[in-house]
Amino acid sequence: MQHMTTAQIRQQFLDFFASKQHQVVPSSSLIPGNDATLLFNNAGMVQFKDVFLGAESRPYTRATSSQRCVRAGGKHNDLENVGYTARHHTFFEMLGNFSFGDYFKQDAIKFAWQFLTEEVKLPKEKLLVTIYHDDEEAFNYWSNDIGLPADRIIRIATADNFWSMGDTGPCGPCSEIFYDHGEHIWGGPPGSPEEDGDRFIEIWNLVFMQYNRQNDGTMLPLPKQSVDTGMGLERIAAILQGVHSNYEIDLFKGLIAAAASVTNAQDMDDKSLRVVADHIRSCAFLISDGVMPSNEGRGYVLRRIIRRAVRHGNKLGAQGAFFYKLVAALIEQMGQAYPELAKQQEIIEKVLRIEEEQFGKTLERGFAILEE
Ligand code: SER
Repeated sequence: MQHMTTAQIRQQFLDFFASKQHQVVPSSSLIPGNDATLLFNNAGMVQFKDVFLGAESRPYTRATSSQRCVRAGGKHNDLENVGYTARHHTFFEMLGNFSFGDYFKQDAIKFAWQFLTEEVKLPKEKLLVTIYHDDEEAFNYWSNDIGLPADRIIRIATADNFWSMGDTGPCGPCSEIFYDHGEHIWGGPPGSPEEDGDRFIEIWNLVFMQYNRQNDGTMLPLPKQSVDTGMGLERIAAILQGVHSNYEIDLFKGLIAAAASVTNAQDMDDKSLRVVADHIRSCAFLISDGVMPSNEGRGYVLRRIIRRAVRHGNKLGAQGAFFYKLVAALIEQMGQAYPELAKQQEIIEKVLRIEEEQFGKTLERGFAILEE
């Protein structure tokens, strides 16, 4: 297994798929361009939705990206888990490869396995997969082409293995690849009662896009069978850096150290530090993509995340506005991959500071009323 920084993994993934004739496409904004059904960009496939549906065509049939995603509202919402599991975030990056009517299940499985076991050299015996319960094709590829024993190909009959973008839109059965972090961590394999533990962590989801779900629930076939995959960059980084929690990877270590310093936190293991470190990413990127705190829609979600960060910061011991001070630390970690962050540093800091100060005043007024 290779030790790699988060930035190196992002690059290696894109290079690998470029070498397989995939067009490298930049991450799109967190605000979906053409989609009123979606609050935030929550997956790599969002910018390709119309290509899957056949409503838009591109000069390529294979693409790869590292997409910034927010899952803090709407159908895919992880907000309340953040800080309390090793693997949930409001903001994360999704590495993906996509086929628009080009290859389908067989190559999607082959590419993923090759990347994991040959490129970054994960031990094969640590990997297991799930398939949608009746997907015999996927079963056969995993079993015959890859050589996975049948007991490491788990059949799942629920929506966990049938991925949908939202209540409507492209969807299809999926096959997920899991990594076993080892016996010393609590949790069971997918489908078992202990599956929500942190031992077996889903790292990569291969979606075999086949249908377009309609408002009334019916599923029409897509014009072409396609592929949409998504691997959590932070999760694969944790594995390759030999740590169990995403919050221990290089990028988060830097953010957590900065969070401890601006809040005067004493205990480096305090979960609130993770929450603050997580939340600065979603908040800074949302503002950089044009969301402003407000009382409705996207702005309201942003306001709630900022307030959650402030409450956790206060619990850690912060005095006065502190959250905005983390923008610099974030730019240190992610500025190279996302130059737009550095360009907007001043405005991001200002929006956060004003919001924090206002929230502080609201809290003070509340306490005064309570005391009276
Ligand atoms: N769209 C799928 C997911 O979000 C794979 O990218 O998991």
